[in-house]
Amino acid sequence: MKTISVTVNGSVFEEDVPERLLLVDFLRDRLALTGTHVGCTHEGVCGACTVHLDGEAVKSCMMLAVQADGHAVTTVEGLARDDRLSALQEAFARHHGLQCGYCTPGILMNMTDFLTGNPDPSEDEIRHGLIGNLCRCTGYVHIVRAVKDAARVLRENTGGAR
Ligand code: FES
Ligand code: FES
Repeated sequence: MKTISVTVNGSVFEEDVPERLLLVDFLRDRLALTGTHVGCTHEGVCGACTVHLDGEAVKSCMMLAVQADGHAVTTVEGLARDDRLSALQEAFARHHGLQCGYCTPGILMNMTDFLTGNPDPSEDEIRHGLIGNLCRCTGYVHIVRAVKDAARVLRENTGGAR
């Protein structure tokens, strides 16, 4: 066991955790943040478990909770601010960027980070950015459309990827 201190969605959590506990299981089972999904039995291929570690998208099934000690984690529950959806979340709603929604939290977290680094992406760049996120339902067309439109809104608001 190790005591870790992690800031999650702005709140500090101090917890004793087994050293082999995965970050995704810490978030879901200890903190009840079940918006972070598990889609591939912790193999790192589906992207449903993507969260931000110090602002960068990471697959939380590929990290141990102890590796987040002293860091800031944001989950999909932390994307909305003051009860307002992020520009990307609003674009997903506007463009029907989801069907079952299982992949959606991971895609939102990955694409939020992506748009911070590339505020005016081409469709090809968006598709390339989505390589690590599997969606079984949508065929990606509406997801790409939503990301492109969110980028436009964010550029118009000059506010970054939130
Ligand atoms: S559960 Fe982490 S990549 Fe699939
Ligand atoms: S909306 Fe169902 S897996 Fe993507």
